[in-house]
Amino acid sequence: MSLKYFTGSCSSEGSELSKILKHKHSILVVDDEDAILNAFNRILADEDYEVHTASNGLEALNKLKTAQKPYSIIISDQRMPQMNGVQFFTQAKNIFPDAVRILLTDYADTGTVIDAINKGEVSCYFTKPWHEEELLFHIKQSISKVEVLAENKRLIELIQHKNAEFLELNRTLEERTGKKTSDLFVQAEKLKDSYKKSQIILEGVVKTLSKIVETRDPYTSGHEVQVAKIACEIAKEMELPEEQITAINIAATLHDIGKISVPTEILTKSGLLTDLEREIIKTHCKVARDILVNIEFPYPVGEIIFQHHERMDGSGYPRGLTGDEIVIEARIIGVADVIDAMASYRPYRPALGVDAAIEEIVRFKGIAYDAAVVDAFLKVHKRNFKDRLSQASYH
Ligand SMILES: [Fe+2]
Repeated sequence: MSLKYFTGSCSSEGSELSKILKHKHSILVVDDEDAILNAFNRILADEDYEVHTASNGLEALNKLKTAQKPYSIIISDQRMPQMNGVQFFTQAKNIFPDAVRILLTDYADTGTVIDAINKGEVSCYFTKPWHEEELLFHIKQSISKVEVLAENKRLIELIQHKNAEFLELNRTLEERTGKKTSDLFVQAEKLKDSYKKSQIILEGVVKTLSKIVETRDPYTSGHEVQVAKIACEIAKEMELPEEQITAINIAATLHDIGKISVPTEILTKSGLLTDLEREIIKTHCKVARDILVNIEFPYPVGEIIFQHHERMDGSGYPRGLTGDEIVIEARIIGVADVIDAMASYRPYRPALGVDAAIEEIVRFKGIAYDAAVVDAFLKVHKRNFKDRLSQASYH
């Protein structure tokens, strides 16, 4: 007896391979001699295999083509009428490429073996007569090989399937994320646009209100804008957040809106004010808050303006608040207001000049005026306003 194996001659390709593990192994034996077929039936009788036989190549091919499940092993005699073993395997390998193919020969003819390897892709051959135990051993080994290949194939298919699932999931997620991102982007753009429009409207409202005051008191024309400029510079110097600086800008621009309720003759009076007139002027803080209460600013503009004449030591009005009771925005506008008012001409007095204004806030620094605000102004003044203030006015 002789047995030869050829490594790598058995293909692991084919979709039927993974199905093999789920079934009892099937073995097809092809030989034109009944004695051989009977011998295989006997040898494999005690094993848990399904053994099918065919007496020639055509019958065997027909069995392969009509098989309900894949064959694990195909054993064929070489010398048969009509179709020899190599010719049979050449076609059989295309039907069940994963089956282990074993050739039976009467003698080891080199040409036949080479043909069997190249054309039929057989993995081993036996020469007759064979030793039964050894034949059974090699059949079992082949079955193990088929099972390993099938398991390998199953795992590869599983990985491919999982990869495909993952790719699909990834693609779906990307699509969803992309859509959500795009929706969010559109919403954000709409919000931005809407915010920009409301800011434009707000700016318009602020400018209009500011103009109304100026119209009634031409002597203070430009005062609101100047106070806003100085106050914002101080706020930046103090490194306040952008939102707070915006609130200061709006509040400073409107800080004297309450003077709309003060008679023009009092606002433009050239002589000294009486106590009553002074009290009337003091109402402008509350009037401003009452006017602005109906406008929904994103910042507490009304409250800031309400406090812009309050002083750190409680000497201010209308409530006589002290220290931290006064919001920082109001403390800043208060200092900016004093600077510009003193530096500018008023109907009841000439411009006192910037030096006098600075002297005033320095003298009362930490008393009436917030020390940090005064320090910030002095830095800003030194850096930015020096040239302009040398003309004795911010205007
Ligand atoms: Fe004021």
